[in-house]
Amino acid sequence: MDQLLQQIEEYKKEITAYSSTDEKSVEEFRIKYLGTKGIVKAIMGEMKNVPNDRKKEFGQVLNEFKTFTEQKFESLKSQATDHRQSGSEIDLTLPGDPVPLGSRHPISLVKNKIISIFQRLGFAVAEGPEIEDDWHNFTALNLPEHHPARDMQDTFYIQQNPDWLLRTHTSNTQIREMEKGKLPIRVICPGRVYRNETVSARSHCFFHQVEGLYIDENVSFADLKQTLYFFVKEMYGEDVKVRFRPSYFPFTEPSAEMDVSCFICGGKGCRICKYSGWVEILGCGMVHPNVLENCKIDSDKYTGFAFGMGIERPALIKYDINDIRLFSENDVRFLRQFTSAV
Ligand code: DAH
Repeated sequence: MDQLLQQIEEYKKEITAYSSTDEKSVEEFRIKYLGTKGIVKAIMGEMKNVPNDRKKEFGQVLNEFKTFTEQKFESLKSQATDHRQSGSEIDLTLPGDPVPLGSRHPISLVKNKIISIFQRLGFAVAEGPEIEDDWHNFTALNLPEHHPARDMQDTFYIQQNPDWLLRTHTSNTQIREMEKGKLPIRVICPGRVYRNETVSARSHCFFHQVEGLYIDENVSFADLKQTLYFFVKEMYGEDVKVRFRPSYFPFTEPSAEMDVSCFICGGKGCRICKYSGWVEILGCGMVHPNVLENCKIDSDKYTGFAFGMGIERPALIKYDINDIRLFSENDVRFLRQFTSAV
């Protein structure tokens, strides 16, 4: 009997020394000691050979051995799980979890292109508020109250007396830059604008513009034309032709609208240019002396030019998009198509 006790002691030493964090060896441990043909079972089977007067004593030893072995197994098992979770057994050859790639919005792509062209000519980027007062959106731009030209842009008013509104154009930023009182000014002002218009495939109640403003001594209409010629060549290519048509804006005198020969059909006439061969790109002109004076700039000493263009239309044409509403629907199936666009 004492031989059995000695045997148990030896197994205990063996079990104490057993160490592994590998799940396979832990399972081998279980089979060897706790399995149906395992050591614990075999030792328990020895009970029948124990004389009656020592059964109680042996019963205790054997039960203790069984519990000891089971506890060891539990601790080996949890060590193996921790080890796996701590990642030391990560299979580096497995494919990784996909990281969804974002893409630039087509409006941002076109806006960034316009900005980068003017930055090369020394224009800085300035931004103005979308919620604006009457002065910066209208009055300072030579559109006094009751001026009929205010009707050209249907305005969303937030509050009246004093008037707060959603800016109808980025021209408000011209005023804000001029009011800073630092000359010369050479800025490009991108941003979102709002008009109370029926939403359709062709027009929306909000859209984007880029405004340009250049004020210094001796700035002439020739400077305006040269700047815009450079812009058109960079934006639409060397072969594109430009034409200026006389126009009217309250904040410029003289005023013009600039068209480029249709970059889709090359001027032959197509759906995009409505078979005219020309696409309207922007409005521009020499800053009206009243506007300069409204911003406390001496109009005898300083002159300047300004221009404003929409971003949506060039973007629709460039990427062959047939509905302006797609730009603001946040549909990832649409947006994903611009992952590699420039
Ligand atoms: N603000 C005008 C519009 O929204 C566009 C414009 C025309 C801006 C002529 C200008 C400009 O700066 O000189 O229709």
